[in-house]
Amino acid sequence: MLIFLDTANVDQISQAAKLGIVSGVTTNPTLMSREKAADYQATIKEICSIIPGPISAEVLVEGVQEMVEQARDISTWAPNVVIKIPATFAGLEATSVLAKDNIKVNLTLCFSLNQALLGALAGAAYVSPFVGRLDDIGHDGMQVVKDIVDVFQHYQLPTQVIAASIRHPQHCVAAAKAGAHIATVPYDVLMQMMRHPLTDIGVARFLADWQRISP
Ligand code: G3P
Repeated sequence: MLIFLDTANVDQISQAAKLGIVSGVTTNPTLMSREKAADYQATIKEICSIIPGPISAEVLVEGVQEMVEQARDISTWAPNVVIKIPATFAGLEATSVLAKDNIKVNLTLCFSLNQALLGALAGAAYVSPFVGRLDDIGHDGMQVVKDIVDVFQHYQLPTQVIAASIRHPQHCVAAAKAGAHIATVPYDVLMQMMRHPLTDIGVARFLADWQRISP
């Protein structure tokens, strides 16, 4: 399972890039607004230059023609940009149009296997089931991820599954076990994935033991 970073914070992306394990980035309008990144194009271009993998930028309009036009424009910003399109009827139609032009789409705000399946049939490169938001309303978000992965494998659909709306490290464990191709994780969750108190205690004890006998 690959790790994407789910943020529009350029400092966090630069920091995480140093770890050498971030394969892509996903943004959305809420994440952009959190950074007060009013210059959308400049921010996406900067993120695309930091991480060479797929960078998802979401359309900010509704309506098929409007989404297609904006997506075509965003796709010229950088070679590694991917267009996030919501899993609506209009989004599905826009995805079909864009896929025929070889523009990569990440079908976002995806909450069911049916939405994911239709997105894959429309030619989306990625679908993003939102695990945390499903859990929030008492559903089993990770089961939806698992169902999508199983069905895509069964029918050999090439669309990749991004476990999104990840809230804590156990979501990453479950996404990996469910067979998600990618988990897109907030920066703090990425940090939590690596930390373990026994590692810290072990490092301190090894160094202390060595210092006791070193000249
Ligand atoms: O990748 C989608 C993500 O940004 C949504 O997360 O926590 O707002 O549900 P959240």
